[in-house]
Amino acid sequence: LKTFETIEQCRKELSCIDGSVGLIPTMGSIHKGHLNLVRASKIENTTSIVTLFVNPSQFGRNEDFDQYPRDIDQDMVLLENEGIDILFAPKVREIYPLGFSTFVDIGDLSKKYEGLYRPEHFRGVSTIVTKLLSIFRPNRAYFGQKDAQQCAVIKKLNDDLNLGSEIIIVPTARDQFGMALSSRNIYLSELQKKSANHINLILFRAKKLYHSKNMKSCDLINFISKSLPIDINIEYVSIVNRETFATMNIPDVNSLIIVAVNIGSVRLIDNVSLS
Ligand code: PAF
Repeated sequence: LKTFETIEQCRKELSCIDGSVGLIPTMGSIHKGHLNLVRASKIENTTSIVTLFVNPSQFGRNEDFDQYPRDIDQDMVLLENEGIDILFAPKVREIYPLGFSTFVDIGDLSKKYEGLYRPEHFRGVSTIVTKLLSIFRPNRAYFGQKDAQQCAVIKKLNDDLNLGSEIIIVPTARDQFGMALSSRNIYLSELQKKSANHINLILFRAKKLYHSKNMKSCDLINFISKSLPIDINIEYVSIVNRETFATMNIPDVNSLIIVAVNIGSVRLIDNVSLS
């Protein structure tokens, strides 16, 4: 595993690489979800590159940037075991040097749902992902379906800015109870985890109801809202088009059921495709 901290070192290394490049952008705290992205990239590309950068611009003022779990030594062991070729782990000043002032704003899609609750979030994600796709020019870049709106945002900026990578979305990795894996799950107590396990169960039940009873969105949303345990505070439940995030009154196979909830002070998101 070759580890680089600077863009210049990466560019030098890239100029010696033949064949296709797969990029897996992460904020570290590597878990099975990231490893699924790594494995997908290893199958499809000659060289696989992981980036590890806890991106300050995608955290709101009251969010957990300082507390975000960081363990680069453990991450390196996991990535080395998977046979990753290159790790790019820059310092903040490498990505945002003094005087940095250019941000990417993709418009409407980034203003709804997650964008409403986390107003700066997608501007930060769009900026870092645009920078990484521009630095590495990968043939393919890999992202997890758990962050469904982020996936839609990244596909849009890649198309709009002609960045030329293929954006590959890998299915959500889940634990033995079906809970979507996330670096933030470590914030949950055992009791909170039990409640959180209901989220995916109920989403998959709603999907079944859609297929067996052809239910409309409002009925499915009602079912989900009523079925979640009372210690789960719902921020939103909705049914949207997977690309535009337009609200769908009548769901179809291109729809996703999306939820965001708070359990205590922990915020969780999940989604299920109706296809
Ligand atoms: O999904 C994440 O871990 C981050 O939002 C990403 C895509 C690495 C950008 O910082």
